[in-house]
Amino acid sequence: MREVEKVIDEKKQGKALLTEHKKENTKKLFIESYGCQMNMNDSEIVAAILSEQGFNTTQSLEDADLVLVNTCSIREKAETTVRNRLKKYNHAKKHNPKMKVGVLGCMAERLKAKFLEEEKIVDLVVGPDAYRDLPNLIEEVEAGRDAVNVILSKDETYGDVSPVRLNSNGVSAFVSITRGCDNMCTFCVVPFTRGRERSRDPKSIIEEIRSMEEKNFKEITLLGQNVDSYLWYGGGLKKDFSKASEMAKATAVDFAQLLDMCATEFPKMRFRFSTSNPQDMTLDVIHVMAKHKNICKYIHLPVQSGSNKMLKAMNRQHTREEYMDLIDNIYKIIPEMALSQDMIAGFCGETEADHEDTLNLMEHVKYSFGFMFAYSERPGTLAAKKMEDDIPLETKKRRLQEIINLQQKHSLYRTQEHVGKIQEVLIEGTSKKSENHWKGRNTQNTVVVFPKENYQMGDFVNVKIEDCTSTTLLGEAVGYSENN
Ligand code: SAH
Ligand code: F3S
Repeated sequence: MREVEKVIDEKKQGKALLTEHKKENTKKLFIESYGCQMNMNDSEIVAAILSEQGFNTTQSLEDADLVLVNTCSIREKAETTVRNRLKKYNHAKKHNPKMKVGVLGCMAERLKAKFLEEEKIVDLVVGPDAYRDLPNLIEEVEAGRDAVNVILSKDETYGDVSPVRLNSNGVSAFVSITRGCDNMCTFCVVPFTRGRERSRDPKSIIEEIRSMEEKNFKEITLLGQNVDSYLWYGGGLKKDFSKASEMAKATAVDFAQLLDMCATEFPKMRFRFSTSNPQDMTLDVIHVMAKHKNICKYIHLPVQSGSNKMLKAMNRQHTREEYMDLIDNIYKIIPEMALSQDMIAGFCGETEADHEDTLNLMEHVKYSFGFMFAYSERPGTLAAKKMEDDIPLETKKRRLQEIINLQQKHSLYRTQEHVGKIQEVLIEGTSKKSENHWKGRNTQNTVVVFPKENYQMGDFVNVKIEDCTSTTLLGEAVGYSENN
């Protein structure tokens, strides 16, 4: 066991910053992440790899020996944000000339060595499957040479790396279960930046969760671009499963089985997962969710559009009708289920009638939450190569606003459904608006705020919901829940 010193900022009781430092480490790493939860988790893996190389994390850019930025390419705006951050690093480097700068993640993979030409401040470019090579790459950089590794892998899952939890509340954590995506939605850059889909050994997933439980974590979110497609058959790419031996096929573990294993093995731990893809989600998963109290009743189930014509153009492998059937079946099995969406407004060729289909699909489902975007063409995708980005920006923005407005109405409808009920909440931190209130989430993933009284971070508490806004429930604790 390596020696770990826990640094808890006592002053911020309730939103304790918990980092793991090794006493003997002398170098300082400043690492920040943009984009999806997978990036946040990858940064924790990177911090763990570099912790073995003499680096402890720091919150101060000015003190850092090494600055790493984990980047996102999903929309143009995400890339612009990172470019602006690099300008900030330029400024910091004036006061701290020894500082080296590395770019990780999807932009690194997309732009490769071009990054070194375009951004003079960058010394190091590392793609999402090459983090194990960081010690060698950093040696190169320390010797004054630029270093790049953007090789995508068939089997890298970082299964044996125990992540250093960054900016953690000490209560909830992410555990990656799959990497990459094979779906090739025509608008999406992820299959190009994160490579082909592969799953992680369930044993190493269970081990990681066990170590989180020992450190007193209470909630785990299983992460992947497409968790429902999880399939462990001894290693290798998902697309090569058909070539596996009969034995490997017979003993393969799918997502429903993995979820069942996790929830059974750790009955006191709460489980969430993200993201689900409608074409890969089976009702087996819903039955497993119904069976276990400790699996949260919430699914993020992006659909992108309610129009069959758009779904086809996007290469989503299901129709509007199949999606609605799936939703109806989910509500039949678990009536209290909360669902959320991702929507894209103004994809290539979208008409007003297509947009109306999106709005009326939303009326049917009444999602609890939504993540909504205007279409942003990404270089290298099939849509960029073969389709015209023909919807004027003004139209995209107007349609997006209509989608957002409708979602707000539905969010309020959903939060109002909770009022008057007693719900189990896991305390995750102090409310942003009031030092005297805790915040946590109910099983449906809605934020609940209530007076602190004598409860503590990480407690499972029953809260009587008294009022709500479209995003937050307000209530009062009535005691510990039986899970506590
Ligand atoms: N399966 C992934 C999806 C990643 S992308 C996951 O784990 O969430 C997240 C969302 O970004 C997508 O669901 C989609 O709604 C949006 N998105 C992806 N590419 C986009 C693009 N080119 N323009 C606008 N939005 C996009
Ligand atoms: Fe992207 Fe579609 Fe995969 S949105 S991450 S290609 S499921």
